[in-house]
Amino acid sequence: MSTFVHTPVLPREVSEVLALQPGETYADCTAGRGGHAALLAAQTQPGGHLILNDADASNLEFASTHVAQQVPGIAISRFQGNFALLPRDMESAGLQADAVLADFGFSSTQIEDPARGFSFMRAGPLDMRFDPSRGLSAADLVNTASERELTRILRDFGEEPGAFRVAQAIIQARKAAPILTTEALAEVIRSVVGRRPGSGVDPATKSFQALRIAVNDEIGSIDALLSQIARAARGIGGLSGKASGGVGSERLWLAKGARIALLTFHSLEDRPVKTLFADICKQGLATDLARGGITASEEEIRANPRARSARLRAIRLNV
Ligand SMILES: C[S@@+](CC[C@H](N)C(=O)[O-])C[C@H]1O[C@@H](n2cnc3c(N)ncnc32)[C@H](O)[C@@H]1O
Repeated sequence: MSTFVHTPVLPREVSEVLALQPGETYADCTAGRGGHAALLAAQTQPGGHLILNDADASNLEFASTHVAQQVPGIAISRFQGNFALLPRDMESAGLQADAVLADFGFSSTQIEDPARGFSFMRAGPLDMRFDPSRGLSAADLVNTASERELTRILRDFGEEPGAFRVAQAIIQARKAAPILTTEALAEVIRSVVGRRPGSGVDPATKSFQALRIAVNDEIGSIDALLSQIARAARGIGGLSGKASGGVGSERLWLAKGARIALLTFHSLEDRPVKTLFADICKQGLATDLARGGITASEEEIRANPRARSARLRAIRLNV
């Protein structure tokens, strides 16, 4: 399999809810490999503008080149960092989006690259950061966190029933030597969590997911992005904190009538999105464009297994 491919999830459905028009500005919070971005940016032509963001500098670079090839001449503004910071960065730059997408989690290329340390199936350094230039790696976390903290992470973010036993095993193992590789960590986990009879799922799956979520503060980042959506929906901001309607640096990051599409892959991601969208729709600040969430067809799941757990939630701001 090519290491450069990431098949975008629910492309037709995302495109329908965002309904981009020529001349509009589209912000992609999670550029990844530029699959969604190329498709959606093309719909803003002629005259449209693409804002590309990703925590991962190599994905951002790849996506930017890919879109520039697919949509020649398109204007692209790039931001590298956590999407939680994108709204303020856009407001500082006087940018305003008509449509926004965030496609949460990791790209296939990240999980398949042994050097990124995301997968128990690939031997490599235990890293797991979307942005390897910042913050603590999974190795830092695993070798320094308390038993209580590890148990909480494994239970809350991985729903690992053996969370306490895995945490204890990690503490024991690291007394002998620091746990520095994906293989070493997977071994420790497998020593206390058995494979369920008849299950093809590796016992390390839940713990690896939990640590990845913790290392990247994935739920905290989604909460922060949702707060920024709520702020714009209520017309609060921009930089001066005054009510909207201003120009230049006081402009909100979302235009009037902006469409927002969020792709979630598990309940920890989906729950806060569902709650916030329901809240602001109930207050009359937005209209639900995907009641109950849109899921992938059997046909898409066959072609792209990652689509199986995807849920698309989308709203249009009424202000
Ligand atoms: C599922 S991929 C996006 C794929 C993209 N839609 C495509 O079609 O190619 C998710 C991307 O989001 C990035 N990412 C995850 N969490 C992030 C965050 N909090 N801030 C910025 N980027 C993030 C990852 O680095 C990864 O590149």
